Amino acid sequence: MSKRYTVMFVDDEKEILRSLQRLVRNEPYKVEFANGGYDALGRLKKNQVSVLVTDLHMPEIGGLDLLEMVKKRWPDTIRLILSGNSDSGTILEAINKGDIYRYITKPWDNRELRVIVRQALELYKLQEEKKHLLSRLEQHNLQLERQVEERTQQLLRTRSQAEIGKYASQLVHNLRNPLQSLSCALDFMDYLILNQSSDFNKLEKAVQIARNSAQDLKRIISSVLDRDRQNMQFNLEPVNLNQLIRQVLEYYRINPLFNNEIQKDIKLSESLAPILANSSQIKQILDNLISNAIDAMETSPKKHLVVETSGNRHSVVIRVKDSGCGINEKNLERIYESGFTTKPADKGTGLGLASVKTMVDAYNGTIQVESKNGKGTTFTIQLPIRRSMPV
Ligand SMILES: Nc1ncnc2c1ncn2[C@@H]1O[C@H](COP(=O)(O)OP(=O)(O)OP(=O)(O)O)[C@@H](O)[C@H]1O
Ligand SMILES: [Mg+2]
Repeated sequence: MSKRYTVMFVDDEKEILRSLQRLVRNEPYKVEFANGGYDALGRLKKNQVSVLVTDLHMPEIGGLDLLEMVKKRWPDTIRLILSGNSDSGTILEAINKGDIYRYITKPWDNRELRVIVRQALELYKLQEEKKHLLSRLEQHNLQLERQVEERTQQLLRTRSQAEIGKYASQLVHNLRNPLQSLSCALDFMDYLILNQSSDFNKLEKAVQIARNSAQDLKRIISSVLDRDRQNMQFNLEPVNLNQLIRQVLEYYRINPLFNNEIQKDIKLSESLAPILANSSQIKQILDNLISNAIDAMETSPKKHLVVETSGNRHSVVIRVKDSGCGINEKNLERIYESGFTTKPADKGTGLGLASVKTMVDAYNGTIQVESKNGKGTTFTIQLPIRRSMPV
């Protein structure tokens, strides 16, 4: 914890402020001590305060009024009460008026008070991080709009309208998964913050997922400008397929069906060679296959997902197998068609497998499907380790 955060204690009794001063002397944050409400407001105007701990009964401005003012004017400041008055009516009023994080009764336990203030500060930092992520997301969206516009103009000069439509819709489709995990992670953070959870492992996890999803969005967006065939060689790097699979599966842990109901068998060959690829594209391939498998098992009595990798000197193989509804023979011929879907309009666009096929083709790879109606489906993708581009 750095000393860039400030905690303020407000009390009209100098003796109490002195004990608090001794108590937090070695704590890893800056402290301010205000001798009453006016003093507190004056200091709050000058410095950003992350956590405010106030007494209730003070002569000039009562603690409840102070909290209400702070909530209006500095809503991000985490508010706590430290008071000798512990009747339930006052506590309830305090919670309703000032929306407080904790109510600590005097006399306090030194160790407990230190822990609670640190937790409040952690909460403040998480809120700050969430705000930061949201503003980055807005920036990404702006960047995306600009790049799509720029790219569309380029394509308009060289390509047919049909191709542009197909390209744009595939792009938007593939943004959906990282956007969804980002918004789920933010919702989850909201939930934890609203419930004043102090389970920081869960909060950290949510922040991590949000950060990774934002990173994925950025990558997909920046691939906009080099997405056509001639330029597909851009952004190639040695990609560790197993690591990507683990990352993609991690996102799905936010999905309750995936997390609680689906039995998962992840069999990753440890001797897999890295492939030369664009990791964002490989993630999009995996995302599409896994989300289709999850959809297919939604109402199946048996829910079993196998994700497997294997390989040899020339190629790697990814297999995604589910025990879902399967695909009937008539539909099997159409699954790679752009726009073919058997899902309701608000659920499927029918662009997932079309974009998977476009990407696998660009890698000179192959995709195979085996499916039994009512029993399940297996998709097998083989990708060459060294990529030679089809011309
Ligand atoms: N694992 C699977 N099990 C059963 N059916 C599948 C599976 N994967 C694909 N399909 C069938 O293929 C169709 C096309 O899949 P595709 O991923 O292209 O689109 P979608 O999943 O319907 O829509 P979107 O990908 O936009 O959510 C699906 O609607 C479904 O009928
Ligand atoms: Mg799909």
